[in-house]
Amino acid sequence: MDPARVDALARDLAAAGFTGGGVRALIGDDAEAALGRMVAEPARRAARRGPGPLATLLHAFVLGDAVPEAAMAEALPSLGVDGAVGLGIAERRAAPAPLVAPLVAIRLHAYRDALGGGEWWIASDLDELAGVAPLRPDHVLGVGGAARTLAALLPAVRSASALDLGTGCGVIALHLRRFAARVVATDISERALWFTALNARLNGVDGIETRLGSLYDPVEGERFDLIASNPPFVITPRTAGVPSYEYRDGGATGDGLMAAVVGGLHAHLVPGGAARLLGNWETVDGEAGLDRVRAWAGRRGAPLDAWAIERESLDPVRYAELWLRDGGTLPRDDAHDALLDAWLDDFEARGVSAVGMGWLALRRPVGDASLARFERVPQSVALEHVGSHLSAAFDDAAWLAELSDPSLAAEHLLVAPDVTEARHQLPGAAGPTVIELRQGGALGRTVSVDTALAALVGACDGELSVGVLIGAIAGLLEVDEQILAADLLPRVRELVLVGILRRG
Ligand SMILES: C[S@@+](CC[C@H](N)C(=O)[O-])C[C@H]1O[C@@H](n2cnc3c(N)ncnc32)[C@H](O)[C@@H]1O
Repeated sequence: MDPARVDALARDLAAAGFTGGGVRALIGDDAEAALGRMVAEPARRAARRGPGPLATLLHAFVLGDAVPEAAMAEALPSLGVDGAVGLGIAERRAAPAPLVAPLVAIRLHAYRDALGGGEWWIASDLDELAGVAPLRPDHVLGVGGAARTLAALLPAVRSASALDLGTGCGVIALHLRRFAARVVATDISERALWFTALNARLNGVDGIETRLGSLYDPVEGERFDLIASNPPFVITPRTAGVPSYEYRDGGATGDGLMAAVVGGLHAHLVPGGAARLLGNWETVDGEAGLDRVRAWAGRRGAPLDAWAIERESLDPVRYAELWLRDGGTLPRDDAHDALLDAWLDDFEARGVSAVGMGWLALRRPVGDASLARFERVPQSVALEHVGSHLSAAFDDAAWLAELSDPSLAAEHLLVAPDVTEARHQLPGAAGPTVIELRQGGALGRTVSVDTALAALVGACDGELSVGVLIGAIAGLLEVDEQILAADLLPRVRELVLVGILRRG
């Protein structure tokens, strides 16, 4: 890849106003929203009404349209059509008129994190929005919902080094580089690494090193402060005729690739180093998927602090339907039933009754492991709060593990500012039958509490210690203080961990 050409492309994109705001101003909010739903035509219609360099770039690199060579030359004055062809992002088509067709998509990705916000141009393979179906087996994904989720899970902590395992177009590597001095981005796909290098240069981001190879092979013997991966976790039957896509299928049987990614973390993290993964896990012969994740994370001699968050669990039919649809195979298609059978045969043969889908946050402990949570979190979660919440939870778990109950009772805690209390009362009843604490941030939990815990949380403004508050509540409720403390303190620990109470 010629860096001078990539720099010329960046100058041209900027000069044309190829930004989120520029595109929105050209096509309008409705057409922009339609693009998010992979519907191209409203944007195409709008771009036709406002011809010029920005419309040309939008046609070519967002919608995948071939454009007249003269228009492309006008849109890329620095790079030129020859430069675009030389860079491998476009090709000439002779008929019916001199046209230039894009070979890649270039889309805008807006981000916001603890350091501020911005926008990147992200090049990837042309996809359904550009009329490409079915996708090529070595398709390199653009920025999708999964990548956005993983980006939101990342800790906003400065570090020396980070690894993006299975980098694809490199968007997670770009996010990691905001906080890490050095990022290694790996993939088994040379094409993916080409996109990653292109995207780093295009956005003026240095310090991302690309390496080819499977799983941890390219980083043998190395350790990182942070490992992030949206791995190719899709469970795919190993049956002739079932299409396999590099971007979603790592070639293992069942969830074996997830087990390998988690299994390699301890050896590739520095003590105290963290990992954030997306993944799938199977329920096999009645052993729940989350219990299998627990086993992956809890290997003897290689312990990890672990918090597994299962967002959804699908039965085998719904799981197969999801990924058949993702691959462009719909129920009306001839191939559909045979492919569905292949998926169900595979699940049946291996005793799989459900597949969990979700997020894994892990840490190589400095000493003993202090966090092991494996839970369903089905409620809607505001993603922007998750990364900082998970980081704080690992620190809080280590803190709580060292803290005796008397020490906890001596702490001055604060109720988090996003917590509200809801009381539900039967008509005419003297008091509430249900009291709930609700979070606006963190994982958006609703926690049922009794009168004593509600009173304690309500009084946690940092002024009085937990022990003093428990004493006062015991007096009010006319119960034994010791018994109340024994009842409340474990639940106070839980409320700290889930972010309802905070250290003062
Ligand atoms: C789901 S995509 C994630 C891409 C990108 N990180 C994102 O979040 O959008 C998974 C990536 O893993 C790569 N991959 C597949 N098998 C792999 C393996 N055995 N080792 C490393 N990477 C692999 C694929 O080529 C693909 O780029």
